[in-house]
Amino acid sequence: MYNSHDNRFYGTDNWVPGTMAKITFIQANGVRADVELVPGSSLMQLAINAGVPGILGECGGSAQCATCHVYVAEGGATLPAVTEEEDALLECTVSERMAGSRLSCQLQAGPELDGLVVSIPPRQI
Ligand code: FES
Repeated sequence: MYNSHDNRFYGTDNWVPGTMAKITFIQANGVRADVELVPGSSLMQLAINAGVPGILGECGGSAQCATCHVYVAEGGATLPAVTEEEDALLECTVSERMAGSRLSCQLQAGPELDGLVVSIPPRQI
């Protein structure tokens, strides 16, 4: 998907296996999307820019809405710990909070997240 704001392509269109760090989003219906990791962007921003359904990000990433909820499925060992603020908001998610629950707006993309796999809950609102 082309993003006219920064003149870049995101999503599976430009993915060449083995050449770029990527994260995989899995929708509740099982559809997978590999998205290039852009350092400095949150995972919520990456998903929205790539047109991945199911990540809403209604508060724009200010940790107030919980509509960017994801379940970390693989590769979560390098993620930072959940902060108190994130922990409190994860109690307000529409879909059930589980062990791998995170707010994707609070996770910054970097090369250490290459190969991360997250599942998107069935409902955000
Ligand atoms: S976008 Fe609102 S809490 Fe993450």
